[in-house]
Amino acid sequence: MKELKYGWRFARGDIDGAQAPGYDDGGWDDVRVPHDWAISGPFSQEDDAQYAAIAADGETKKRIHVGRTGGLPHVGKAWYRLPFELTEDEARKAIRIEFDGVMSHSKIYCNGTPVGSWPFGYTSFAFDISAYVRAGPNVLAVSVDNKPLASRWYPGAGIYRNVRLVFLEPAHVAHWGTYITTPDIREAEAEIRVQTTVQVPSGNMSGIKLRTEIRDPAGNVVASAEDAATPKAKHVFEQNVRVPRPHLWGVDDPYLYKAISRVWCDDTLNDEYETAFGIRKPEFDAQEGFSLNGKRMKLNGVCVHHDLGPIGTAINRDALERQLLTLKEMGCNAVRTSHNPPAPELLDLCDRIGLLVLDEAFDEWRIAKVENGYHVLFDQWAEKDLRAMLRRDRNHACIFMWSIGNEILEQGEPGGGKTARLLVDICHDEDPTRPATAGFNDPDGAIRNGLADVVDIPGWNYQPNRYQEFKLTNPKWISYGSETSSCLSSRGIYYLPPEEEWDRTRESLQVSSYDLASPSWGYSPDVEFHAQDQCPFIMGEFVWTGWDYLGEPTPYKTEWPSRSSYFGIVDLCGLPKDRYYLYQAQWSDKPVLHLLPHWTWPGREGDLTPVHCYTSYDEVELFVNGVSRGRRPKRLNSISEQYRIIWNDVRYDPGELKAVAYAGGKAVREEIVRTAGAPARIELTSDRASLSADGEAMAFIRVQVVDTVGVVCPTADNEIEYSIDGPVEIIGIGNGDPTSLEPFHANHRRVFCGLAVAYARSIHGRAGPVVIKAQSAGLHGAECRIECANNT
Ligand code: GAL
Repeated sequence: MKELKYGWRFARGDIDGAQAPGYDDGGWDDVRVPHDWAISGPFSQEDDAQYAAIAADGETKKRIHVGRTGGLPHVGKAWYRLPFELTEDEARKAIRIEFDGVMSHSKIYCNGTPVGSWPFGYTSFAFDISAYVRAGPNVLAVSVDNKPLASRWYPGAGIYRNVRLVFLEPAHVAHWGTYITTPDIREAEAEIRVQTTVQVPSGNMSGIKLRTEIRDPAGNVVASAEDAATPKAKHVFEQNVRVPRPHLWGVDDPYLYKAISRVWCDDTLNDEYETAFGIRKPEFDAQEGFSLNGKRMKLNGVCVHHDLGPIGTAINRDALERQLLTLKEMGCNAVRTSHNPPAPELLDLCDRIGLLVLDEAFDEWRIAKVENGYHVLFDQWAEKDLRAMLRRDRNHACIFMWSIGNEILEQGEPGGGKTARLLVDICHDEDPTRPATAGFNDPDGAIRNGLADVVDIPGWNYQPNRYQEFKLTNPKWISYGSETSSCLSSRGIYYLPPEEEWDRTRESLQVSSYDLASPSWGYSPDVEFHAQDQCPFIMGEFVWTGWDYLGEPTPYKTEWPSRSSYFGIVDLCGLPKDRYYLYQAQWSDKPVLHLLPHWTWPGREGDLTPVHCYTSYDEVELFVNGVSRGRRPKRLNSISEQYRIIWNDVRYDPGELKAVAYAGGKAVREEIVRTAGAPARIELTSDRASLSADGEAMAFIRVQVVDTVGVVCPTADNEIEYSIDGPVEIIGIGNGDPTSLEPFHANHRRVFCGLAVAYARSIHGRAGPVVIKAQSAGLHGAECRIECANNT
């Protein structure tokens, strides 16, 4: 196997003849893959401005939506070229090229010959290129074409996921050729069924043998099977093995087995193929909701889009792992890959970290949400794309349901049920072991049309007030909140008095962080918590969204420079907003005591400044400069004060805001928020001390502006400049401000509400110490050290 990461040439534009091996790409850029050409900007409100009425948001008149897809230059055509060498030995093999995803409408050429094309940017695909390559120099060329008006969020641009060549002997396991299920799981043993598709060029299976070993994480073989094919045998081997005393996979104990498949041809080993899988028992029940391995489990889920904030959509394992671990730390146990198939790395990580995944295929079927959206491909491609997702992903322990669509507009239209049936049948055909679902925001349409009955499990988007009604009218339904809340906020921004509606006239284009505001279809997190508590039969929820993402800057849909979302529980660069702690208090076992707002309000002395506390404790006392403002319990009879404790009558007095939490009548924990002085210095903290010099590993450096005694200055917006001594590169800096037009890819950026994050990536093959320095006029600078080492 050869990863194709380095040595690519890249140019924007519709370039005639760029697929020809001899084409002169001397003036093109050198890039590495995964690559997102648009993330380095510049931002512009002209980029993919969408003149539309967004019906799903209740808009009736067309108007210009700027920043809907991020205000970044992702629209247009581009070319990639990669010269590569093959040895004689490699060239005589069967060669498959695998793309994990190309955004979008890609056409692949090998030595000038078209090899294939794949329009949808989110599914993985592969082509056999054996016939087009030779020993010695070869050239791969990929053209990409991103249409305007094709997405509702930032899609990214280019070869944004990994690409590899796989070299195969004549007899081998087919691409995504294993399917492992666990039909019977008991304490003493589990039955494992391994279906393996073997490819042989002649089609003649004579002399072919398949041995499958099941190994535990320590590498011990815990079960095995060996079968020889007869000449007329089918290409699919079915082997049933028994694993004694199976160790189950769960979110708290993500234990993975591996199946190693070896294919022999006439006693010569031809292929070795590895499949990770888990043994686990998900159960779905109309009364009990969801359980895993016999234990009831509320789905504390979030929806995630695929971008990685300041570094765009180019997949990076460490950046994605940071996203998922931050969510897990909050008590999240499931993610919904809204609204398209994710990078395979996400599934590997969720398998390993212990997060359930709702793998979603489509945001559109035949009816358009955007002019050039998936509807233009649906008839020709939906089955191929859906099967590609199912085949690639169905062995993952983390996946517990398939989603055939989000808020598809067929919900209320004739024929919707028929299309749903087609897609559900494909899911069942590829994987009868998992239910198929969809997210409905028009429950009446979906019920009337039969869609809600066609899917195995209906998902409700934004319907907490109707869970009881659905249960009464359809007692057999198993269901869940496929999308919930859509609370809006900008990290660190507070407008007083706290408002439940954002102020449309606010020039800052920010939204207050009291976690009360939402668009008309949304509501505060508390409302969903209450509905979930009232309706134990509901399997749980998927909050919109775990992290902020590029594009969809609701509520400022038409106001530039808003260009990224306000929906995230975590901001665009990975800094938790206040409601992170609201969810953590509700979802995790951790002790949580969090106060808001900040306590630095020069000029507001004596003014009412309501304080909210997100806590896992039932009772909290608040002090302002040592004076008690009251000891208050959570109020079980009030939705708005059942999950947070509120002091509306507090007046701002600079100094110290302190919360003391009580358990069993005793003070057990305290949290202090101090008034900050003027910005005095910068602090830098890397989340890790060392990085592997593999060119992929990334450190996330938190940047904060503090006063002379180290209190973060909550309104600081100083511009900071970075310099590096040593082998890392800063490939993005973010600050979580949804309105900032500063480029992500630069050596300087302002902090937003005192904070920013720099993304520092190692350089392939270059080890050594690194010092990152930060400077800003009028502030004491700071530095942080990282060690880059080979093979860590
Ligand atoms: C939902 C939709 C999401 C996102 C969200 C914003 O209706 O499914 O993709 O647009 O609204 O609140």
